[in-house]
Amino acid sequence: MNPSRQQSKLQEAKAEVLSLLKILSDKVDLERKLGVNYLQLDPIIKNNISQEEEMISQQPVPESVCDNLDTYNEDTKVELSKSEKIEALSKLEEQVKKCTKCELCNNRTNVVFGTGDQDADLMFVGEAPGYYEDEQGEPFVGKAGQLLTKIIESIGLKRSDVYIANILKCRPPDNRNPNANEIVMCSPHLIRQIEIIRPKIICALGTFAAQTLLDTKETIGKLRGKFFEYQSTKFLATYHPAYLLRNPGDKKKVWTDIKKVRDFLQE
Ligand code: URA
Repeated sequence: MNPSRQQSKLQEAKAEVLSLLKILSDKVDLERKLGVNYLQLDPIIKNNISQEEEMISQQPVPESVCDNLDTYNEDTKVELSKSEKIEALSKLEEQVKKCTKCELCNNRTNVVFGTGDQDADLMFVGEAPGYYEDEQGEPFVGKAGQLLTKIIESIGLKRSDVYIANILKCRPPDNRNPNANEIVMCSPHLIRQIEIIRPKIICALGTFAAQTLLDTKETIGKLRGKFFEYQSTKFLATYHPAYLLRNPGDKKKVWTDIKKVRDFLQE
């Protein structure tokens, strides 16, 4: 190979390595900001890694990578009284209402922070506000929201007994799926809400909430109806009510899932 061809091959290889490193670094940043404070390794690599190396990979994340969460990390280890929870959430809501960390702030009518009992045992997490939620500043007030209310009532609770929030607090244009940057910027708000409320169980509604909180690409069909833990809180995912409006045949599955939540709360 002539020297100039060799040089250009070398440049191409360097560019490829740099681009792979950038992808890897973006992934690690995203996971850290979503609260994952250890390296998640591919199962094959993980099986091969020695225990000693694994302990090193589980060292706490240095402060500097948690910049996004800095303002939210006070009080997280202490269980707050109901009035302290109300106060902490209201302070957080004031901050979130001013949030301009992603471009969704430009087109919002309202920030949709969350609603319900600040001391709830059960917290529902959806995807993002839609048209009506953006108009009214409250989550799940459209058709899907009416179905969610029925789901909640089917286990003997009222909407005001639970807390309802979304991964994103602002409406994505045309209800498109949230993008990675929006999730990274917005999820610290939800993480802090969960830390303050400390529900006994989180019920994720739909693919997006389930995959984001469990940090997986597994389908909702596989994830639903099973108990997981999210940061030491019991976690169960089910289909999103908007999906049920399009696929009413799957309502029975949600009924099965929500009964598990009810039984867990009654234990
Ligand atoms: N869908 C969601 O995921 N959240 C809402 O608030 C409304 C519809």
